[in-house]
Amino acid sequence: MSRLCHMLCLTALLASPATAQNLDSLVARMTLEEKLGQLNLLSANGQASPQQIQLVRAGKVGGLFNVIGAENTTPVQRVAVTESRLNIPLLFGLDVIHGYRTIFPIPLAEAGSFDPDAAEATARAAGQEAAAFGINWTYAPMVDIARDPRWGRIAEGSGEDPYLGSLMAAARVRGFQQTIFATAKHFAGYGAAEAGREYNETEISPRTMRETYLPPFKAAVDAGVASLMSAFNDIAGVPASGNAWLTDTLLRREWGFTGFVVSDWTSVAELINHGVAGSQAEAGRRALMAGVDMDMQSSIYGDSLAPLVRSNRIPMRVVDSAVMRILRAKQRLGLFRDPYRARTAPPSAELRALARRVAGESIVLLKNEGAGRGAACCAPALPLSKSGTIAVIGPLADNKEEPLGPWHTQGQASDVVTVLQGIKAKLPAAAQVLYARGSGIDDSATAGFAEAVAAARQAKVAILVLGERGEMSGEAASRSSLGLPGVQQQLLEAVAATGTPVVLVLMNGRPLILEWASDHVPAIVETWFLGVEAGNATADVLFGDVNPSGRLPVTFPRVLGQIPLYYNHRNTGRPPDPNNKFTSKYIDVPVTPRYPFGLGLSYTTFSYTNLKLSATRARVRDTVTATVTVTNTGNREGMEVVQLYIRDEVASVSRPVRELKAFTRLSLKPGESRAVDLRIAMRDLWFYGLDMKPVVEPGTFRVFVGPNSAEGLEATFECIR
Ligand code: NOJ
Repeated sequence: MSRLCHMLCLTALLASPATAQNLDSLVARMTLEEKLGQLNLLSANGQASPQQIQLVRAGKVGGLFNVIGAENTTPVQRVAVTESRLNIPLLFGLDVIHGYRTIFPIPLAEAGSFDPDAAEATARAAGQEAAAFGINWTYAPMVDIARDPRWGRIAEGSGEDPYLGSLMAAARVRGFQQTIFATAKHFAGYGAAEAGREYNETEISPRTMRETYLPPFKAAVDAGVASLMSAFNDIAGVPASGNAWLTDTLLRREWGFTGFVVSDWTSVAELINHGVAGSQAEAGRRALMAGVDMDMQSSIYGDSLAPLVRSNRIPMRVVDSAVMRILRAKQRLGLFRDPYRARTAPPSAELRALARRVAGESIVLLKNEGAGRGAACCAPALPLSKSGTIAVIGPLADNKEEPLGPWHTQGQASDVVTVLQGIKAKLPAAAQVLYARGSGIDDSATAGFAEAVAAARQAKVAILVLGERGEMSGEAASRSSLGLPGVQQQLLEAVAATGTPVVLVLMNGRPLILEWASDHVPAIVETWFLGVEAGNATADVLFGDVNPSGRLPVTFPRVLGQIPLYYNHRNTGRPPDPNNKFTSKYIDVPVTPRYPFGLGLSYTTFSYTNLKLSATRARVRDTVTATVTVTNTGNREGMEVVQLYIRDEVASVSRPVRELKAFTRLSLKPGESRAVDLRIAMRDLWFYGLDMKPVVEPGTFRVFVGPNSAEGLEATFECIR
């Protein structure tokens, strides 16, 4: 084709709304190398390298990631759309996991808000901000269900529950995709990494896969997610990045997904290490044939597959389908019309206000008991009054880096308000705030203890801000112990020994083992990693300007040996009975968690009365409404997260002891009562039956409505045909 004709064709393509026909004719004009180029995704290091720019010019790259800033994306996009033969625009990806520059709470924290609208709002804001910096595709949301807190990536998802995880997944997809493409990852089962060890194998039964690990992906697909990322792990020996059942049969044929699948970082090449491919070409063939359209960072599709296509070992139609999916995505994103996508970020003040609000919603009050000395002995330790001397202690108290958590891309420590700063900003100028770092996060130096103890001695309360480094969560951050790292436990005990009441403020990306603290410290506040507004949001809660309403999206075990521990387990044939040795339990620790899924305290109290169901018998197509009266029995306005769980009493396969099926957030003034409706659609009671098909079986269901997964009023209904 002459250059002139080529330019005219391109002009036509750009001028007319890109149609399927246009794309067909575009594919028809592509060389095999250009086709494989569209399937090639490379990481830059802030800027595209000269070699990468040359590959773009040669039409050998479909997307780049980790190109930072529009000043860097725009020139390389210009090369793609004006200097490459077919002028096809690039995708620009980045791990915008919980914010671009304005860092919001980590996804696990945000899941604890039980507020999908909040998750949608932060995803939308993150997408808008990223788009203003040239990004058009994020590798989020991470929707892996995770039940092993040793696994560092638990921080990136929504915790252990498939229902909550599905709502959060869909909300985040909707939010991001207001401006940029989202990626639901890691497809699938990555959260089940054995022993919580990163990149490890998984052994997931087909039923558990369908009922636990897949629903958030399905929710993301139903919400229109543009792409999925294939996972690193194998599932019972079949690596997810070369698994035709997952990425073709299930995803495309059964779910009707029309977007594209990108591999994880070199996960195509890693098929060799998994031992399912003997060479790069074989690895690439297996991944592409399985339905992995885009090869992240292995360069195998581009470098090794052409001879296999030419010799028909990979049919051209497989390549064309993958190319078509990438081009359609670019078309859907509007890149053919508007390759540079100049966007304006929302004003920083607006982003920060959102970050502070959602951070406040994400904080979970785990414990709040009487702590004071003398007359104050019995009042709960929190909220604090704004007068008197306060000691703020700990390696995370005035730390600007760690509240950003893992995956903070362009987040800057200088943007972070520390807890110390948040507290000082909240108090009158005359208030005395004594600060002592006390120790490092994970070193063994105890030299700072004396200063910390001295500060505590002079104060009416000691706020200890302890926990993990941000990088102790996220990728490649599995831990084999879940206590406070370094000498922080000793620091906590030394400060508590002063007799000054202690408020423990935790920063961490996973459930920690908190036995000593739970037994000895009057108040524990779980703040996770809250992002740039961490300090203000924490101070809002500590001083009662925000009444905490976060709930645990994941179970906190008592000891490491209980892991995996999650609320929605099956009953066993010998459910735990303290009076019977021969039941399912431990001889040295209770079987219950320290803090159950769904738990979160408030500065007020709520009572639940009068649970009623709209029907005690319902057909499979019907919906039963549970109505419960919730009363604010304390003397502060507060937000309650009303949770509804069900249990299928008798079924053809053993069902979980509880499954979350509905929840709602409800703000009540002191003394106020409200009747709350929660709906249970019978069709949502499905599970995979003996024949591995989804079924709603008739029978009796118990309903629990209450403040967490371990409490609640009960009722029953019968599902009938
Ligand atoms: C590897 C991680 O597993 C994945 O989540 C991430 O999106 C890619 N690297 C790209 O950074």
